[in-house]
Amino acid sequence: MQQVATVAALRAALRDAPRPVGLVPTMGALHEGHLALVRAARNECVTVVATIFVNPTQFGPGEDLDRYPRSLATDLELLEREGADYVFTPAVEEVYPPGFVTTVHVDGPALPLEGAARPGHFDGVATVVAKLLLQSLPDRAYLGRKDGQQTAVVRRLVRDLDIPTEIVVVPTVREPDGLAMSSRNAYLTPEERAAASVVFRALSAARDRFRAGQQDVTALEKAARVMIEASPLASVEYVAGVDPDTMAPWAGRGPCMLAAAVRIGGVRLIDNVILD
Ligand code: PAJ
Repeated sequence: MQQVATVAALRAALRDAPRPVGLVPTMGALHEGHLALVRAARNECVTVVATIFVNPTQFGPGEDLDRYPRSLATDLELLEREGADYVFTPAVEEVYPPGFVTTVHVDGPALPLEGAARPGHFDGVATVVAKLLLQSLPDRAYLGRKDGQQTAVVRRLVRDLDIPTEIVVVPTVREPDGLAMSSRNAYLTPEERAAASVVFRALSAARDRFRAGQQDVTALEKAARVMIEASPLASVEYVAGVDPDTMAPWAGRGPCMLAAAVRIGGVRLIDNVILD
């Protein structure tokens, strides 16, 4: 595996790389969820490029940019073990050099839920993902279902800007108790960590009821909220059944993404399940 830190070195490395090229963008602090993306890319692509970049523009003021977990040495070992060919680890100034003033703004699927709770977040995501795609020009990019709204935003970004990359969405990897793996789980105290499993239990219960014929998604949203808030450590920001492409409230047809954002202690967790 070769580590590159500049756009020029990345382009030089990939110029004659055998295709298909698969890109796995990450912010590091890698866990099994990230590694599932690398494995999917490894299975389907001849050249696999992972990126590790804690993107400052997707963090709002007062968010956790400064304390976001960083573990580059371990990350590099894990990527090497998974057979990644290249890892791109640019510095902030390489991605946002002095004078940088261009951003990508996505409306539509970027507006509700996470977009409403974290103003500017998806512009930061869309800008950095557009840059990473243009820098590496991959055939496929691998994203996790866990960040369901992010996958909708990136799918719309590549469609609207005619970026010739196929977006592949990989199922959410979970801890044995159902908690979706996340770099931010490291912030949970043992007590909070134990409480956090309620999020997936509530979403799964909603999915079971949907499959059993309860198609009133508003009732399912309410029941999930009540179940989560029964835990004294949890407070719900939203539980919402939405169209997985547009993020608009589910209109009663096609798949429904039941998405949740929950604060457990001081930690904000997101998760979702597909009701089908
Ligand atoms: P990060 O949170 O590091 O996640 C990188 C990728 O791993 C995302 O596509 C995310 O959905 C996926 N992922 C995280 N946890 C997962 C899990 N438990 N199961 C499956 N996939 C999981 O998402 C970002 O970084 C950034 O916004 C990024 C796209 C890199 C742009 O900066």
